[in-house]
Amino acid sequence: MFDVYPVYPIEVTHGKQCWIWDNKGNRYLDFYGGHAVISIGHAHPHFTKSIAAQLDKLPFYSNSIINNLQQKLADLLGELSGLENHRLFLVNSGAEANENALKLASFHNGRSKVVSFTSGFHGRTSAAAHVTDSKTIAAPINQGFENDQFHFGDRESVRKALGKGDVSSVIIEGIQGVGGIHCADAEFLSFLRSECTATGTILILDEIQSGYGRSGHFFSFQKNEQLQPDIVSMAKGMGNGFPIGGILIAPHFESKYGLLGTTFGGNHLACAAGIAVLEVIAKENLIENAAVIGGRIKNALEQALPEFEVRGEGLMIGLECDKPVADLRKQLLFEEHLFVGSSSNKNVLRLLPPLNIGEQEADECISKLIKVLRN
Ligand SMILES: Cc1ncc(COP(=O)(O)O)c(C=O)c1O
Repeated sequence: MFDVYPVYPIEVTHGKQCWIWDNKGNRYLDFYGGHAVISIGHAHPHFTKSIAAQLDKLPFYSNSIINNLQQKLADLLGELSGLENHRLFLVNSGAEANENALKLASFHNGRSKVVSFTSGFHGRTSAAAHVTDSKTIAAPINQGFENDQFHFGDRESVRKALGKGDVSSVIIEGIQGVGGIHCADAEFLSFLRSECTATGTILILDEIQSGYGRSGHFFSFQKNEQLQPDIVSMAKGMGNGFPIGGILIAPHFESKYGLLGTTFGGNHLACAAGIAVLEVIAKENLIENAAVIGGRIKNALEQALPEFEVRGEGLMIGLECDKPVADLRKQLLFEEHLFVGSSSNKNVLRLLPPLNIGEQEADECISKLIKVLRN
């Protein structure tokens, strides 16, 4: 293997709901969700059955034939997200979703400059890597267009940059995940919407981590009820671990044959996984659950650990400590058997559990965190 991942010496063999087990029989509470991917819980029976049934029928055929599962997925997604007039283009990962979003914006207005935000993360492929705030993930070949990065909330710089009329798109995470859980506030999003509309700039909401119910809304930007982005990118929770991503595209974009494309995107098996996820989110009221249980965790941590800053919405929570959290994370994992996430800010722990955790699991996580962080 090409060695690029620092790994914990744990071999996970199976999972159920918010629990995972290693090959030695140890059980862990999963508040990392395989990097915010597990939305409806590990090995959810409806998810497993749907994929197995499709596997028996036809796992894959190309985009050159009718695949009714794609339309079913698009209809369900429109219904649950409320973005019924947006159209869906399916891909395989988060970076690929953003790559297509940035490309479509550029096709649409003929411009190439992009505005993004500091601490933002949008993926490791070509354009997505360049608009990400990281010195290490963009190679020289990724830096082929102009990109301005401003602070979250810096209206003056955004207004000035967009005012020149040469910016193709603004890309922003509804809640910055990798950057350490920073929420875009509703007013700032409205400001971006009106500046983009006034200057012919495309507004791209990256909901790859914060979407699919995690924030307590279907998409985190929907705390601003009126907001209609031009493009929304999704992945992670969309397939509960099955690789699938997509972009939702506003009606004013013209589609034509060959404009976008992929071999694997929208394949039968991925659609079966994506449909099963949406069915479970709706049936088990997981968006509401994320809001309620997330609120419970946030309140408990704020009260018990007032010296730390607790940020986030729903089940996307960041805890900023007064020192680097790498050792705390190891202690939580090896002594308390609790998986949590880190971030590019070394002092921030991230909590990203499956959306169907209950009060009991939330309270167990809270007491483990308090035990370790108070020492
Ligand atoms: C907000 C955001 N955008 C894009 C990506 C890239 O997704 P992927 O790793 O599936 O390419 C990530 C991954 O962490 C993400 O959090």
